[in-house]
Amino acid sequence: MPVCTSPMPAAVLTSDGRHATIRPPDQGDRAGLLDLHDGLDDAALRLRFFNVSHAAGRHYVDHVLAARPGAVISLVAVVDGAVVGLGTAELITPDAAELAFVVCAAERGHGLCTLLLEHLTAQCRALGIRRLVADVLPENTRMAQVFRDASPTAEHHLEHGVMRYELDTDPPSRESDQP
Ligand SMILES: CC(C)(COP(=O)(O)OP(=O)(O)OC[C@H]1O[C@@H](n2cnc3c(N)ncnc32)[C@H](O)[C@@H]1OP(=O)(O)O)[C@@H](O)C(=O)NCCC(=O)NCCS
Repeated sequence: MPVCTSPMPAAVLTSDGRHATIRPPDQGDRAGLLDLHDGLDDAALRLRFFNVSHAAGRHYVDHVLAARPGAVISLVAVVDGAVVGLGTAELITPDAAELAFVVCAAERGHGLCTLLLEHLTAQCRALGIRRLVADVLPENTRMAQVFRDASPTAEHHLEHGVMRYELDTDPPSRESDQP
């Protein structure tokens, strides 16, 4: 059962001005989440799961919906009643979680991943999770851009052929906030 720590559902706008909703998934989203993952092409499957198996997507949907409270913080993006994106933060230590995202091909490039990341980060922060990590294939320029835009100071380094991004959930302090 997903944990919700900030007002949800959140009404958001895509970058092309359409209404979308961001909220935790529930069991009623199983079919939509399966459709989202079944609809991924080989390239997207590889970028997301590092292999081209649709079974990986289906197993991941089961995993997210069966997770014990707090183990996987997850949010879906919904447009016109359809689940078009999923963002997850999976606890790896009490204060760190691993991020993963997927957005359906038709909705990419409209800011939904960015919105999912913002809301996931806020939820993780509220739960005491201070560090977010993500393993990204070096050719995944879209995912890299989302992390760089969200956190220009995000650390990243190449580890065994995969780029590991590390983000802080604390918002950067502004000069105007300093005494
Ligand atoms: C990575 C992914 C989740 C991004 O989702 P998205 O909703 O398209 O992301 P956003 O719209 O928030 O941001 C995409 C950014 O990529 C860049 N981008 C957009 N279109 C692009 C294109 N055609 N080519 C390269 N980069 C592009 C832009 O910089 C954009 O940010 P900006 O326009 O705000 O500056 C999505 O592409 C996806 O599902 N890919 C397949 C699975 C995957 O790679 N998952 C990540 C593994 S952790």
